Amino acid sequence: MSKIKRHKKAHFAKMREAGHLAANVLNYLELSIVEGVTTGELDRLCHDFIIKHNAIPATLGYEGYPKSSCISLNNVVCHGIPGNEVLRNGDILNIDITVILDGWHGDTSRMYTVGTITPHASKLIQVAYNALMKSIELVGPGVHWGNVGHFIETFVASNGFSVVKDYCGHGIGQIFHDLPQIDHFGTPGEGFIIREGMFFTIEPMVNAGLEETVLLDDGWTVVTFDNSLSAQFEHSIGITEHGAEIFTKSG
Ligand code: MF3
Ligand code: CO
Ligand code: CO
Repeated sequence: MSKIKRHKKAHFAKMREAGHLAANVLNYLELSIVEGVTTGELDRLCHDFIIKHNAIPATLGYEGYPKSSCISLNNVVCHGIPGNEVLRNGDILNIDITVILDGWHGDTSRMYTVGTITPHASKLIQVAYNALMKSIELVGPGVHWGNVGHFIETFVASNGFSVVKDYCGHGIGQIFHDLPQIDHFGTPGEGFIIREGMFFTIEPMVNAGLEETVLLDDGWTVVTFDNSLSAQFEHSIGITEHGAEIFTKSG
């Protein structure tokens, strides 16, 4: 049996602080998401903001990852590496930030849009957002994770989209990627039983087309197999007596 950590009340306070900072990075970026800016410039803003607030960008140097954020544009599912790519009218993008503040990780991501996007892209973003927020409402002590995973998968499919199965959420705390593995699909009554004090992320990746993904030659960038658009939102949460606390509320 694998062991999923259960954290004390005092550790909720540490996660609240780390989560709040990560959320503030996402809020801070909002004004800079404009046509003509490069993803590399956005990453620089993230890096400087995190350092200025006495934290460490967790992704920088993580298993060799070279940047302080992940920026995933259009058909990129996750782990897009910021660089020379220029934002264009109609683009949709996910920015994923993880900070380490006083040893604790805050991990969150959200979607941004550039100029005018299509109604189809807009629906995709809305479904990805609702998949995350509705799933958090289902979470609480005694619930099998499979019930929540099943909800996410069927909710996304009922909207005509597909959920990525190749990448998952994760336990979080003093370790970036810990147990449990949070699949965004499942079978009711199966999976681990959620308990008070557990900390984990939920971060469903929703594809407009097929669920299959391809890893590019850079070893990080994950794209949709069929080049369809992909959207994702992520929160870090802690399980309370009756439900879940969102550590990374933003917006
Ligand atoms: N923040 C991502 C997550 O949600 C992980 C990025 S790891 C990196 O788990 F190395 F790609 F940055
Ligand atoms: Co993340
Ligand atoms: Co994560």
